Amino acid sequence: MKPHITVVGSVNMDLVFRTPRMPAIGETLHGHEFRQIPGGKGANQAVAAARQGADVSFIGAVGDDGFGEYSRHCLNQEGIELTHLSTAKDIATGVAGILVDDSGNNCIVLAAGANATLSPSQIEAAEAAIASAQFLICQLETPLATVTRAIRLAHVHSVKVLLNPAPAQALSDELLQLVDYLIVNETEAAQLSGITATDRDSAQNASEKLLHRGVGAVLLTMGEHGALITQASGTHFIPAIDVEVVDTTAAGDTFVGALAVGLANGLSLLDASLEAQYAAALTVTKLGAQTSIPHRQEVLDFMASRHAASVASAV
Ligand code: RIB
Repeated sequence: MKPHITVVGSVNMDLVFRTPRMPAIGETLHGHEFRQIPGGKGANQAVAAARQGADVSFIGAVGDDGFGEYSRHCLNQEGIELTHLSTAKDIATGVAGILVDDSGNNCIVLAAGANATLSPSQIEAAEAAIASAQFLICQLETPLATVTRAIRLAHVHSVKVLLNPAPAQALSDELLQLVDYLIVNETEAAQLSGITATDRDSAQNASEKLLHRGVGAVLLTMGEHGALITQASGTHFIPAIDVEVVDTTAAGDTFVGALAVGLANGLSLLDASLEAQYAAALTVTKLGAQTSIPHRQEVLDFMASRHAASVASAV
């Protein structure tokens, strides 16, 4: 049986400029290329989970414009269940302006649009989609009150919660105590723990602080510096996978979606994290968000080609 995962989150149209370097303030720069690519952390994580083989239900909002129609079409093509993807009237679909430089680094500015309209009552209307899932995935590109409602409902129905608190914002211990798996990058870890992860020791300190705030496990993804997996039983380090970086957009989203599917398939946290790390590594080898998220077989083939067993080491 396929695992069932429900995602509450954002849908954006990504307006992507490839540029030789990031422009300075006041500067006009010739870019290499412009692309319109479906994105949004919520939608990307839903696509990642679907491409890893899960049945995915999505709860979100688009605007009543061409971007919304196209985003809905793309999610539908992935086989994602969209009963609870609403269309907000007279509001634009969320948009992300993304600059990607020649090193694959990006800068992103969001205009939330319809994502900001997703309300707690829409979550309540979708309670069955949450209750019937094995895992709920949330991020923070939709209102915090809405995300909180979803996490509380998941808790009531004993559904495990993965929270990717991006973009970073302050969260209460009360909410974090309902989170089973917290997936953060260095920026989000610093915002929530007060500790900036500059090396392995500080990363571990930040993760332990977050564990003490009440989450079940912390997955700190650090790009080319690997990932740290911390739970009550201890901390493990997974090294970064060496690939040619084209664009890091949606690498974190791929990690989250693949992690949820691995866990739902019964893998240990370490094995699921390892698969997620390989899936995320493939994502950075291509331009864009949903254009770069790999399918299950690609991940398995990639892992086999790199002899991927047992890379995690205890810290
Ligand atoms: O995580 C990547 C995503 O962040 C992009 O697709 C963009 O839409 C922003 O939400």
